[in-house]
Amino acid sequence: MRPEVVVTRRAHFNAAHRLFNPALSDAENARLFGPCANPNYHGHNYNLDVSVAGAVDPGTGYVIDVKTLKDLIETHVLSRFDHKNLNLDVPEFRDTNPTAENIAVACWRLLEPVVPAGRLARIVLWETERNLVEYTGG
Ligand code: NI
Repeated sequence: MRPEVVVTRRAHFNAAHRLFNPALSDAENARLFGPCANPNYHGHNYNLDVSVAGAVDPGTGYVIDVKTLKDLIETHVLSRFDHKNLNLDVPEFRDTNPTAENIAVACWRLLEPVVPAGRLARIVLWETERNLVEYTGG
């Protein structure tokens, strides 16, 4: 039986966002989301860890060529999110609060259909050095 291994590529992007619920008043949003509800947005330096699981190919020794994974992340995620205002520029967040949780789910939905070898196993989105969320497709 071929061993199954998880391969992870870390990517990075900068983006602005505002966390708010349009059904609530500015005061209620400020109470719920604190400084993240600032009407004029704020930025983060996000790290994105994308993990692909699969059997090691005996011909290459790879589960997936990390260059392939790097290119997929650039094409399908970074090109949409990097140096963007997530609320205003990214259709995925037109009606969805761009929390770390929702960004991780959006990354999964963009990448899951295009991973050519193995399967997408995990998305970890780091919003700060201390705050991260993980999504495994459930
Ligand atoms: Ni924020």
